[in-house]
Amino acid sequence: SAAEKGGYDYFMLKEIAEQPRAVADTLLGRVAVDGTLTLDEMRLAPEELRDINKIVIIACGTSYHAGLIAKYAIEHWCRIPCEVEVASEFRYRDPILDRQTMVIAISQSGESMDTLMAVRYAREQRARVLAICNVNGSTIPRESDGVLYTHAGPEVGVAATKTFLTQLIACYLVGLYLAQVRNLKFGDEVNAVIEQLSGMPEQVERVLSMMEPMRDLARSLSGANTVLFLGRHVGYPVAMEGALKLKELAYMHAEAFAAGELKHGSIALIEEGVPVVVVVPSREGRSVLHDKIVSNIQEIRARGARTIVIAEEGDEKVRPYADTLIEIPAVPTLLQPIVATVPMQVFASELALAKGNDVDQPRNLAKSVTVE
Ligand code: AGP
Repeated sequence: SAAEKGGYDYFMLKEIAEQPRAVADTLLGRVAVDGTLTLDEMRLAPEELRDINKIVIIACGTSYHAGLIAKYAIEHWCRIPCEVEVASEFRYRDPILDRQTMVIAISQSGESMDTLMAVRYAREQRARVLAICNVNGSTIPRESDGVLYTHAGPEVGVAATKTFLTQLIACYLVGLYLAQVRNLKFGDEVNAVIEQLSGMPEQVERVLSMMEPMRDLARSLSGANTVLFLGRHVGYPVAMEGALKLKELAYMHAEAFAAGELKHGSIALIEEGVPVVVVVPSREGRSVLHDKIVSNIQEIRARGARTIVIAEEGDEKVRPYADTLIEIPAVPTLLQPIVATVPMQVFASELALAKGNDVDQPRNLAKSVTVE
């Protein structure tokens, strides 16, 4: 009913708008004022966590994209090798697991059969399994050694939105907690990130208020045959998520590339008028990557691409090469996906609506896939 949708035409639009709250609720009670993290509910003792020498993240779809982003953060903060794999491939390739492996299963619903089967397999191999899940008491957390719940509230739209942002928060919390229990010294970096994480609900609120240009643009592109997405570093999985959302909701061909891979083949796809959405890395710390993506944008534009550039506010270097510039708040590099994903959600939902699609119930899809 209209009342359930809180004045929005679709649950998905309501759920996009609820993201600041979902992010705040997922942080709530887990970060003390002095920066200490409390994640006791994970039911994994600090001694066990100190023993881990490898992390394997398994998930499907959008949850897999959260895992890809988590890898960048966890390896950087914890110096533990971290692999990410789609759950449906995992147990069929004889993966290497033992007691010192921590498997993180990310599943919004807690019921995806591919992820559940991967969890069972990992436990048979004696790995310790931590679930990141949004549904209390669902199957995957019940069958795991520990669980960290996201507090996004119920998500009705088939497309994952607020559950994805809260999965990112949960992944960052796990990474920072591991760094804390393992007593890793990074100067103040880990502490600074913990503080910045607390500011994320506000940043998501801001980015939501900056989305009008993205809506206008999306409506103008409903006739496009394909949309390409480019990113680097954590922006690459964000680009993948942008492409998945567009396929899922607008039924359009979309594909994401690591911007550095373009020249190895896919640049041949660029022709007059092809829309290309580019996620520009934050300028903080990794300015080399920033410069590289600026030249990628120049290259594709010279070949006729219509560039849709998602970049930090005040990024003057990129402005001359953006046919459309979509600004997002400046946040630390590793946390950028929290704000950079929002324009992707808005783009796909608006374009789908312009095509007359039902964004809550896209064709052929189910909210949770309970068959392998
Ligand atoms: C996301 O928009 C999709 N509906 C889908 O890819 C989803 O993320 C995937 O099926 C995994 O679901 P889960 O998180 O409930 O395991």
